[in-house]
Amino acid sequence: MSQKDRVLSGMRPTGALHLGHYHGALKNWVRLQSTHECYYFVADWHALTTHYENRDIIEKNVYEMVIDWLAAGLEPDQCTLFLQSRIPEHAELFTLLAMGTPLGWLERVPTYKDQQEKLKDKDLSTYGFLGYPLLQAADILIYRAHFVPVGEDQASHVELTREAARRFNHLYGREPDFDQRVQQSLAKLPKDSAKRFEKSRKAYQETGDAKAFEGAMGYVAQATELDATDRERLSGYFKGTGKAILTEPQVLLTEASRLPGLDGAKMSKSYNNSIAIREDKASLEQKVRRMPTDPARVKRTDAGDPDRCPVWEFHKVYSGPDVRQWVQTGCRSAGIGCLECKQPVIDGMLAEQQPMLERAEPYIANPKRVRDIVDAGTDRARKTAQATMVEVRAAIGLNY
Ligand code: TRP
Ligand code: SF4
Repeated sequence: MSQKDRVLSGMRPTGALHLGHYHGALKNWVRLQSTHECYYFVADWHALTTHYENRDIIEKNVYEMVIDWLAAGLEPDQCTLFLQSRIPEHAELFTLLAMGTPLGWLERVPTYKDQQEKLKDKDLSTYGFLGYPLLQAADILIYRAHFVPVGEDQASHVELTREAARRFNHLYGREPDFDQRVQQSLAKLPKDSAKRFEKSRKAYQETGDAKAFEGAMGYVAQATELDATDRERLSGYFKGTGKAILTEPQVLLTEASRLPGLDGAKMSKSYNNSIAIREDKASLEQKVRRMPTDPARVKRTDAGDPDRCPVWEFHKVYSGPDVRQWVQTGCRSAGIGCLECKQPVIDGMLAEQQPMLERAEPYIANPKRVRDIVDAGTDRARKTAQATMVEVRAAIGLNY
């Protein structure tokens, strides 16, 4: 049985994905699929928190976004791709978490005020928008994910998720028949091991013996007789905290090979400075050719400074050391022109897009394949989500 750590992340289907998404997140998702058990989902409810008045945008982009994912290299047999709104258990957990979540936790999330200010044309003084990070917490906790790969802007949401998990475990962590279940888990171990475990537990709880703690945790982690639930229960028993029903996730910050927009600001469709993951060749060329450069280079004979030019940021991602050297020298001495300088960037982007366009082709030709992939992934994800909810309901005592 695989004991791979679980990864979960989602994206909002509000437009075609661009190279900023690719370099900032997707590339990392693709990398993780071979080392972790990955769940990636289309966060269509999340999109509704800001687009409740233009849901046509969401509808148009759900499957388009999945095609972008597949184009980028996600393999449906290596990871689970699914659609949030098909798994209403997310909403159930959100509701249950909401009961014990102080309002202040949500009001203090930095993205709350930020986004309200940035998206002034939308009325975001809604209940859904305030609660959005808690819905995200439910998305993560329902899969008991260990890692959440996101950009820095989302780190505060993962922090809130950890707090929500801690609070839930504190409020409801003791299963009603905890002691009996502990005995059942212990019974799976060889007799002398169980005895040793009990002895070190007493030592730990009486004297805080750190060695006893490490030894017992190491033993539990490796005991092949136990499954994941036994392990969690026994470590809760050992520590005296009961069983952790929900797992505290960690943020997995995407290493910054961050790609700015064509104008040097953050790449975003609404700023009109983006290149799509599947951009038409002529349009890609035109966009790069029109990119602003160091404003000091008014005439071809004026020397420039790559540090003041957004094109340089793209060379950092797309060019090797030789080309970069050529840019540095050529720009500072006015030895090369800006159009000349942009050509390797264009070539690099086209080379990057080529395999993506090819991978997307069969899905564009046959949209049913995309739907089938999402259906199969959603069925898999639902089973995991339902299993968690059985435990969550029992922990709260909703089994009358
Ligand atoms: N909030 C994320 C974003 O705007 C999307 C998201 C929703 C998400 N639920 C998630 C990301 C759970 C990671 C884990 O990009
Ligand atoms: Fe920018 Fe290149 Fe022009 Fe220099 S030569 S200003 S780096 S585009």
